[in-house]
Amino acid sequence: MITLKTPQQTAKMREAGLIVAAMLAATRAAVRPGITTAELDRIAAEILRKAGATSSFLGYHGYPATICTSVNDEIVHGIPGKRRLKDGDIVGIDAGAIVDGWHADAAITLPVGTVSPEAERLIRVTEEALRIGIAKARVGDRIGDIGAAIQELVEGQGYSVVRNYVGHGIGRAMHEEPQVPNYRPARGQANPPISEGLCLAIEPMVNVGRPETRTLGDQWTVVTADKTLSAHFEHTLACTAAGPVVLTAPKEGAAVAA
Ligand code: MF3
Ligand code: CO
Repeated sequence: MITLKTPQQTAKMREAGLIVAAMLAATRAAVRPGITTAELDRIAAEILRKAGATSSFLGYHGYPATICTSVNDEIVHGIPGKRRLKDGDIVGIDAGAIVDGWHADAAITLPVGTVSPEAERLIRVTEEALRIGIAKARVGDRIGDIGAAIQELVEGQGYSVVRNYVGHGIGRAMHEEPQVPNYRPARGQANPPISEGLCLAIEPMVNVGRPETRTLGDQWTVVTADKTLSAHFEHTLACTAAGPVVLTAPKEGAAVAA
């Protein structure tokens, strides 16, 4: 079932989204060679605590941390821990917050120190894929239009979009219907219309090599099957008559540094 949100409800999700933006800004400011992913998790948890909000991820199907940190060939759902980031790595940071029962979810991928031109291009293309996906989230169009635009951009750059994980509706639960694939729907596949009040998390996952994935022995970390680099960007947005409103955008004029 797809649920549409009222403006009062999306206002709550915006509150959650501002906190997610602050978690990402603080972790972004802390990312440097030598920091551990557990330290990034602690920084994000502290922002949540001060805001009086809770993590969408901690405890979700037993997930053991506040955020996900996915390094290099890790696509999504990397668990923060003792791993030290090193110069040349890229790290995906994914965060979700709950305010009065309403969720917001967003992710960024960052260079650690100086990265290869390929890593830089991958990050740039993936962020651009999110941007054009959001632009396609127009009332009256269809969910499939989002993925079609993302896939065309990504494959045009010689990269691939992950098929095994997709974006999602979001609201009282982190994962609601509909699924939001980052690829064109096959004939006969669900392709619901975009209605006013629909809230979506759009989250392209882009691989330098092939789209296939593998899950590590920790049962969470998803990596590229061919060990190539992967990047991930995500925003939560509300679809309105005036166009998409990004609920996880940083506060207008807010300082980005922690
Ligand atoms: N942004 C991710 C998603 O939509 C976050 C989930 S991580 C989990 O699936 F740990 F909560 F599963
Ligand atoms: Co998500």
